[in-house]
Amino acid sequence: MTEPCCQSIMDQKYQKLDDVINQHKGKPGGLIPVLHQAQLLFGYLPKDVQIRVAEGLELPLSEVYGVITFYSLFSLKPRGKYTIGVCLGTACYVKGAATIVEALEKKLQIKMGDSTEDGLFSLLMTRCVGACGLAPVLTIGEDVYGRLTPEMIPDILKRYEV
Ligand code: FES
Repeated sequence: MTEPCCQSIMDQKYQKLDDVINQHKGKPGGLIPVLHQAQLLFGYLPKDVQIRVAEGLELPLSEVYGVITFYSLFSLKPRGKYTIGVCLGTACYVKGAATIVEALEKKLQIKMGDSTEDGLFSLLMTRCVGACGLAPVLTIGEDVYGRLTPEMIPDILKRYEV
């Protein structure tokens, strides 16, 4: 059962979401900004939030779900404190991004798209982040790491584990 205090926090989040929906209702191109705000509020986009957005904007739920799954920026699962984005663009792929993914999955004990149990890291793939000269590349929040080898992964993760 949800604690009363948690319930009121959720109510406030839904209230804010409704405000955002009302600002964009009936305007073209409103879905993405609404989903972006919803993700900031809830941390991810669970089914109940998708339904609220679809009903609020009077769009089919399938359209909302389609947009969420198309853009890697949106998440259907709770995300960790730090999102690790491994670039799987062509330059990074050619330079061995797959071995970086393998090293991360092994070290974090999760698969691509999942989050660690302690809620610290989520592992996602990204498209080209515009740093092809540094391939292979990964990002953690605003930080960019390039010319990676699998051996560098443990030291990079350590910086965020404190
Ligand atoms: S392909 Fe990875 S940064 Fe461009």
